[in-house]
Amino acid sequence: MINSSSFFIDLAYFFSAALFIYGLRRMSSPISARTGIWIAATGMLLAVAASFSHPNITGNHWLILIAMLIGGALSFVHAKRVDISDMPQMIALYNGLGGGAAATIAAVELLRAAEHGASERILGVVGALIGCIAFSGSLLAFAKLSGFIKYGNWFSNRQTAYVAMMALVLMLGFILAFSNTAHPVLLLMFFALSLLFGFIMTSPIAAADMPVLISLYNAAAGLAVAFEGYVLGNPAMMVAGTLVCAAGALLTRLMARAVNRRLSEILYSGFGIAHSTSEDSVHYGHVNEVDAFDAAVTMAFAERVVIVPGYGMAVAQAQHKVQELTQLLEERGVDVQFAIHPVAGRMPGHMNVLLAEAGVAYEKIHDLSEINNEMSKIDVALVIGANDIVNLSARTDEKSPLHGMPILNVDEAGSVIVLKRGDGQGYAGLDNPLLRHEKTRVGLGDAKRSVQDMISAIKSLD
Ligand code: TAP
Repeated sequence: MINSSSFFIDLAYFFSAALFIYGLRRMSSPISARTGIWIAATGMLLAVAASFSHPNITGNHWLILIAMLIGGALSFVHAKRVDISDMPQMIALYNGLGGGAAATIAAVELLRAAEHGASERILGVVGALIGCIAFSGSLLAFAKLSGFIKYGNWFSNRQTAYVAMMALVLMLGFILAFSNTAHPVLLLMFFALSLLFGFIMTSPIAAADMPVLISLYNAAAGLAVAFEGYVLGNPAMMVAGTLVCAAGALLTRLMARAVNRRLSEILYSGFGIAHSTSEDSVHYGHVNEVDAFDAAVTMAFAERVVIVPGYGMAVAQAQHKVQELTQLLEERGVDVQFAIHPVAGRMPGHMNVLLAEAGVAYEKIHDLSEINNEMSKIDVALVIGANDIVNLSARTDEKSPLHGMPILNVDEAGSVIVLKRGDGQGYAGLDNPLLRHEKTRVGLGDAKRSVQDMISAIKSLD
């Protein structure tokens, strides 16, 4: 006879897996993403409730509830308060905690080695290694992105450290996986080395490579959860972990391509090492300034305009004004298109979400490869609060951490107008030769204010 409680628990896991998959499907478009998140969250609630009522969970219910309440309340308050520009740090932090939770499960289960078969111990060990790397690597990424720790390559011979540590970790992991008695001291050494490994992996990464690494850790944390789900015999963990891993791996691949890096270059050779990003050493020198009226006239009498939004547009929350400007220009017969760089802003799809919110039509939004082919036919490129994604040094300066990353080739347009507040250097903290380019004029001021002034100027032309 089928045990009715285990039947209902399996049924709940089945439905939660279906909800995860459907929710993820809806997250693939900004229009349906919000409901997708709610659907996946409902799946997670169901899975947690099912796990909570599992017959193997005896006693400790209160402790689990208190831990869940504290964790839930802290993350709710934090997520409510977090600024959109701090999103990468937040993602790094929560990814890391997911990896850490998986590693903790592994530690408990490996201390009960005798209760598990060889396949469970092997996956437990692999999950622990990946979970530890995701945990320490993500926490270091969080500390760097939040400005708690300065960028820099703290290990002079990183590759040697990599190989030596990996050999040692694998040896310890092998012993733990193939022994059916617990070895607390070896386990402790294995965890310490795995944590250090994640730390070394993140230490030299900066600039455009950081989002790629965070996304990789996201995938790693998912994989660790899936492996530990196998150890615990929990199908919801296996499905959720596999989905996170698959989505994270795809995103990592897309982002690595967007910044023109091979993953091995980022992880092994430290391709994205920050060289000279000292903010003190950046001076823009002379730039040609433009006022709102001249900028507005240049665009109002152009045939084709491309708008390049960046992080500064998000900071200024200028997207609605940008849409108003677009409509005014279109009423005058100007063809206005938008160019989106894959790493513009501070999270994947950041600009697309803001433009969609402001009502910019999807067919006007073009990605990097599409629009770069057209750039030489464009009269005016209006860069709004973007820096790294149009930084000409990415093409020419081999020492630049951005070197090799494809940029939006706005310098090929007839003229360039850059809206920014002052001497800010953008995320990578680098000088941008575009600002002194002969075609470039800079409109100083908050982007929302500058676009509003341009709108007023165009209206005054009628
Ligand atoms: P940034 O390089 O960060 O440049 C932003 C520019 O906006 C700066 O020049 C800044 O200059 C200006 N700005 C800031 N606030 C402004 C305001 N209120 N009004 C007008 N201008 C303002 O942005 P980007 O070009 O979008 O490049 C994105 C960078 O972030 C890349 O390096 C990317 O790798 C990194 N990153 C991306 C992601 C993802 S997945 N998108 C995640 C993490 C990191 P002023 O201060 O002088 O105004």
